[in-house]
Amino acid sequence: MASEGAGTAQGLVLLFESLASVFSTEIATLQTEPEIRLAQARYLGKKGKATELMKQLGRIPPGDRPAVGAAANRARESIEKLVEERLAGLAEASLAGELARSVDVTLPGRGRRAGTIHPLSRVRMEIEQIFLGMGYEVRTGPLIETEWNNFDALNTPADHPARDMQDTFFVEGGLILRSHTSPVQIRTMLAGPPPVKIIAPGNVFRRDDDATHTPMFPQCEGLHVDKNVSFEDLKATLITFVQRFFGPQTDIRLRPSFFPFTEPSAEVDASCFLCQGKPPARATCRLCKGTGWLEIGGSGMVHPNVLAAVGYDKYDVTGFAFGMGLSRMAMLKYGVTDLRLFYENDLRFLQQFPAG
Ligand code: PHE
Repeated sequence: MASEGAGTAQGLVLLFESLASVFSTEIATLQTEPEIRLAQARYLGKKGKATELMKQLGRIPPGDRPAVGAAANRARESIEKLVEERLAGLAEASLAGELARSVDVTLPGRGRRAGTIHPLSRVRMEIEQIFLGMGYEVRTGPLIETEWNNFDALNTPADHPARDMQDTFFVEGGLILRSHTSPVQIRTMLAGPPPVKIIAPGNVFRRDDDATHTPMFPQCEGLHVDKNVSFEDLKATLITFVQRFFGPQTDIRLRPSFFPFTEPSAEVDASCFLCQGKPPARATCRLCKGTGWLEIGGSGMVHPNVLAAVGYDKYDVTGFAFGMGLSRMAMLKYGVTDLRLFYENDLRFLQQFPAG
């Protein structure tokens, strides 16, 4: 470029003009801002083409220089204008692209799956509602407990098999993971005088792990202590509960049993709500396996030693207590046969329990 016309004012003016027009073809092919800026520097930068041309200014007669300077300025301005226009065009195109994407109302929606309440939570909430309706309060307590709250206060002496390493998880500092929610009953009684009418839902821990046991499981226990609370009250409470939970035809059966913290004690069975416990359906019932009864938990009259341990007058008040496993209640109610399904969080399982 420096050859033709170089050295004359006329030639330099022509060269500046062609500089701008060559730049305009070059910039048209560039797609990004960095590419455009580089091209701009190749023309207008310190070592750019326009700067190189200006060096020839000294060789032309002084009288012709203003015309060449004006041509140089025009070239610079038109190159800068081309850069600005091209950058603005790019910005507009990318904005238009974004807008086009965000307003495409013909695209199918992404959808959002509504969550459902876990069957164990559902069962817990249902049980809470039933007992709230009978005047009970819901109480909870810590998962890490003292041995005194979990065992001693509950008339479970140090040599009782339930305190063995095999059943209980020990943590540092002489504490344990609670093996039932009965310590919540102890805490509640320690916190205030009778009457007490509470249920205590919550997770408990035992060293057990097979098809019918998990090392952690949810439980719900109940306690009613007042003047003149009798075994009859326990029975009426349990009947009311099973009828509301399983259905109005449900009956209960109490079988003599043993718990250190209750005397007398009883295992609670509910009549099978699937076959109603009646032949011939009973014989082939998959739920009660032909027995007509479903085991749901333990119960009994609060042992006087427990009342004494929390400072209650064992001659003045009596009480009953009961406890049940929520996984077992959920298995019975929903016909689930493997306990582990509750803990695997498989959506195909959980989606079978719709919201509501
Ligand atoms: N605490 C007992 C358990 O976890 C259940 C129970 C509570 C039994 C109250 C009787 C009375 O096995």
